[in-house]
Amino acid sequence: MSDADVTPLMRQYHEIKRGYPEAILFFRVGDFYEMFGEDAKEASGLLSIALTSRDKSSAAPIPLCGVPHHAAQTYIAKLLKVGRTVALCEQVEDPRLAKGLVRREVVRLYTPGTLVDTEFLPAGESSFLTAVSYAQQGGVKNGPVIGLANLDVSTGEFWVTEFHGDQGTVESALIDELVRIEPKELLYAESDRSLAPLLGRLDQTRLCAKPLAAFSAQEATVLLTDHFGVHSLDGFGCAGLTVGLAASGAVWRYFRETQPTASLSHVRRLQRRWHEESMHLDETTIRNLELIRPLTGGDGRLGSRHATVLSMLDRTSTSMGSRLLREWLTRPLLDRKAIQSRLDAVGELTQYLSQRVALRSVLRTVQDLARLSSRIALGLAGPQECLALKNSLRALPELRSNLSVFTATLLADIRNSWDDCRDIYETIERAIATDAPMSVRDGNVIREGFHPQVDALRKRKLEGKDWITALESQERARTGIDSLKVRFNQVFGYYIEVTKANLSKVPADFIRKQTLANAERYMTPGLKDLEEQVTGAESQLYALEEELFIQVRERVAKDLPRLQSMAQALSHLDVLAGLSETAALHRYVQPTIDEADEIRIVEGRHPVVEQLSTDAPFVPNDTFLDGESHRVILLTGPNMAGKSTYLRQVALIVLLAQIGSFVPAAEAHIGLVDRIFTRVGASDNLAAGQSTFMVEMIESAQILNSATQKSLILLDEIGRGTSTYDGLSIAWAIAEYIHDRRFLGARTLFATHYHEMTQMETLRDGIRNYRVAVQERNGDVLFLRKIQPGGADKSYGIHVAKLAGLPDSVIIRAQEVLAKLEEPGSRTEGVHIREGRSDTARSDPQPHPLIEEVRQIDLFSLTPLDALNRLADLQKRATDSQ
Ligand SMILES: Nc1ncnc2c1ncn2[C@@H]1O[C@H](COP(=O)(O)OP(=O)(O)OP(=O)(O)O)[C@@H](O)[C@H]1O
Ligand SMILES: [Mg+2]
Repeated sequence: MSDADVTPLMRQYHEIKRGYPEAILFFRVGDFYEMFGEDAKEASGLLSIALTSRDKSSAAPIPLCGVPHHAAQTYIAKLLKVGRTVALCEQVEDPRLAKGLVRREVVRLYTPGTLVDTEFLPAGESSFLTAVSYAQQGGVKNGPVIGLANLDVSTGEFWVTEFHGDQGTVESALIDELVRIEPKELLYAESDRSLAPLLGRLDQTRLCAKPLAAFSAQEATVLLTDHFGVHSLDGFGCAGLTVGLAASGAVWRYFRETQPTASLSHVRRLQRRWHEESMHLDETTIRNLELIRPLTGGDGRLGSRHATVLSMLDRTSTSMGSRLLREWLTRPLLDRKAIQSRLDAVGELTQYLSQRVALRSVLRTVQDLARLSSRIALGLAGPQECLALKNSLRALPELRSNLSVFTATLLADIRNSWDDCRDIYETIERAIATDAPMSVRDGNVIREGFHPQVDALRKRKLEGKDWITALESQERARTGIDSLKVRFNQVFGYYIEVTKANLSKVPADFIRKQTLANAERYMTPGLKDLEEQVTGAESQLYALEEELFIQVRERVAKDLPRLQSMAQALSHLDVLAGLSETAALHRYVQPTIDEADEIRIVEGRHPVVEQLSTDAPFVPNDTFLDGESHRVILLTGPNMAGKSTYLRQVALIVLLAQIGSFVPAAEAHIGLVDRIFTRVGASDNLAAGQSTFMVEMIESAQILNSATQKSLILLDEIGRGTSTYDGLSIAWAIAEYIHDRRFLGARTLFATHYHEMTQMETLRDGIRNYRVAVQERNGDVLFLRKIQPGGADKSYGIHVAKLAGLPDSVIIRAQEVLAKLEEPGSRTEGVHIREGRSDTARSDPQPHPLIEEVRQIDLFSLTPLDALNRLADLQKRATDSQ
């Protein structure tokens, strides 16, 4: 098709579409958003709407589909859900005033990371747009640097960090951080090829490659100093951050591209985060401990939130609290004082039951203040959202009075910086009608008595309508047509309808407008006047109400910093009250914490398993680790006994203590740890293309290379993924490495099936054997789930196989084989490993001398007879030597 054949509208469409090749373009035409070409084909399928075509008669009709403009949000949400982005193109001038073709522009690009639309956002999750930049730095900072910037535009949170170190360190720090953040959308430079496979593991994130030019620290500095109105970003702690700023700039630019007109006034600072502030939990540990998502198969992301530590712990009343708790859980604290402050606050809230109950029930009436105030600042909030803000603010005085009994520092701080926001409340209360609609365009927004002109216009409109009703009876009387009706429709406005039978009675001043099958429609000059009064009043009223509403919204937006700080205060209060509710509900206790090495837990429980085990009650267990004689606990015990559960339980109790929560135990003393490492179970990482054993070894290497004497390490079945001897040797050597102070000397729980390892207790002074007790009765095994000193000697694996329903014949045969293998002299008997052997490695067994002799024979120099004689000789000696 030549250019000349294309209509002006389609030419305009193609021009705009060229700027958004990847997005589906919603092209506003009248009351519809239309999609053309490939977009139409794809969208009609994804949205289940009819696909038609434009210019059906032409040789090459253009595929077309459309959605009504008022329903666009629902369709956009659907497209985003399946990973598409949508460019919204509006008519940006009044069609009635346009000369020729109406001007159109893309006013917004909908992408998963830039949403501010509350209806699209999951309430309890942050919604981050993230950018990652990468650089190889010379000089003092020699080595790779990764910059990471995150913007949650729905709340205005914006922060940046950098990772330094060798390639492996920065990459794993990055991925660990990304697993915590779970960005909705991530930008990276297309030239950073090495990042792509790493980022590919984030299966919930939309990845978006951008040209390298988008990552410029210089441009970022210009953009951001301008936005924040500062001379330099050093005041935000960003001095010397170049790679981090490059990422911040990319985030900022991208947001601007997607919403060119949105004000970002609610983003009030760029926060510099130091990852040393909180405990660095790696990806594996977050997954293994099922903090956020359950371990279903190899992929912890699938499935519901049921039975995760988060879902069990989360008793917050607001979605702001829920988001903050999630953050606390993945960022345990390191500083004793900071932890103690949280514990004190939770403690006090636990103590004052009635205040806590009251606080929580009032908090439930508070909506998402953080997101509501952002939408107000962005100029997106409608009347109902303003009302939601008002109703949330209404709760503040009562919350404050409930806080008065508390003296814990955190709670007192919240109280002392409290702001009832009464004036903001009143601004909305005075201006906006309590039954105002969602959209300001629907009218009836402004409260009666707020503005005299609104009231006057409403009165005129109503009077006009009354007069029209009155006109009906007047005209009936005048004409004698009893069935005469005054009606209204969108096309003609008001009209008088007379049935065909009465046409003879129609007076001369009726002006005919339309003829129907059995009626005629008329207009009269009197009706026309009234109509103008009604519609005139109506349109003036809409315009005025909109203007007043925007004034109110802008007035509220001026107080954004106050609203944001109250949102922050409320979310903290909510999390603390929620933690104390959980503590009270499940009988948690306040841990004592210090910086010594002792971890002493009396009757500890696994917070999630104890909630799930309905049939049998959960059996509590004690723990003692001290970095000295109890440095490494070697835990043996049959399959299914509860080893893995115990390991996780100890880690979770320590972790909960360090987020400032009470813990599931009768008593707990926690010597703070700097990191928690886990290597639990054999989860395949098929997506990353690594074998089970390889993953196991990589994870172990990461632990040995990153742990310190202050760390807590959990190793579950190290070496399981390879042959017995290899596995045992590796497990043994790892245990020694962790135990020995000259290498690591970290507090460790080590669960293993290699009973041979229990010998280590006598060889190393910091290793202690423990086992999970079972009782054998008439060939059946009873799991007691109790941890006791000493090593186990049997695995009862066959017993578990039987419980799992393996055929009887297999079970019987396995028992026979086991009996054979356990006989003295069988291959697995007598594995004695003496200390110090590991570095010399097992030497290969000597081959039998006869085999050596056969190998030496030179076949080509033998006659057939010689060969036969040699063979007879070899056979005789082989028989003799047996
Ligand atoms: N203390 C406990 N009280 C009650 N039930 C428990 C306890 N500990 C574990 N269990 C239950 O026992 C089951 C097996 O526990 P776990 O997976 O920890 O065993 P394991 O010793 O690690 O087994 P394997 O050697 O096969 O890995 C769990 O599903 C859990 O429900
Ligand atoms: Mg296990």
